[in-house]
Amino acid sequence: MERDTRKQKREKKMGLGVPALPLTLGVHVLGVVAIILVLVWTINFRGGLAWDSPNKALIFNIHPVLIIIGLIVHGGEAIISYKAFPLKKEVKKLIHLVLHAIALILGIIGIYTAFKYHNESGIANLYSLHSWLGIGVIVLYGIQWIYGFVIFFFPGGTPDIRRYSLPWHALFGLFVFVLAVGTASLGFLEKLTFLENSGLAKYGSEALLVNFTAIITILFGAFVVLTALADAPAAVDDYEAI
Ligand code: HEM
Repeated sequence: MERDTRKQKREKKMGLGVPALPLTLGVHVLGVVAIILVLVWTINFRGGLAWDSPNKALIFNIHPVLIIIGLIVHGGEAIISYKAFPLKKEVKKLIHLVLHAIALILGIIGIYTAFKYHNESGIANLYSLHSWLGIGVIVLYGIQWIYGFVIFFFPGGTPDIRRYSLPWHALFGLFVFVLAVGTASLGFLEKLTFLENSGLAKYGSEALLVNFTAIITILFGAFVVLTALADAPAAVDDYEAI
């Protein structure tokens, strides 16, 4: 009885008082739009994607595509997956960790392609704020995933460790995700500035497309954070089976 009362108090403190489910729709739509925009940019305006090519710019193009599809969209969908599906707790946990694993793997390959492009073009590595934050994001993301896996999935921590870890896991996860969205925005800014310095029209369609893609990415991030803080469907108890 005492446990129930504490649980109810905790739930009241957590939610924003708005239902999460309609917000998840905004997340899905913005995620799909962000992916379409980054593909239109890299394929229609920047010549396409290639793992190996004498045109090294095509290798670079894989970088924003995999990062947006992986770290940003799969990462965001993983965060809101607890609020999105009316499924059993254990199934939701599996969906959450698999979506994050996809995000992490695509993020690592995406970052690798930026290094590959630099190395094959004779450009220095890790000279920008964007690249430093990028390394920070991927390292923190990796730590967060491994900690979550060990404590909440396999072999699993004691109930006390899990209960204590959960709010920190949620807070740290949101922090890393917001940092990833900020880093992606810096990446769009940096690439567009390089292109404009090489003659791209500042108010041309490509410049507008890149800026607009960054804005959609930020809006996607805002909807993910809002959804994560919104109220889960009534039947769901985030503390019962952590
Ligand atoms: C969370 C998202 C992102 C992460 C973690 C990330 C990470 C990185 C890293 C680690 C590098 C350094 C590669 C090297 O030094 O060889 C890099 C380079 C670069 N990235 Fe990103 N990136 C992200 C998103 C983006 C996006 C969306 C764009 C948009 C085009 C972008 C554009 C660039 C550019 C232009 C470079 C080369 C210049 C530089 O090193 O700063 N990045 N990125």
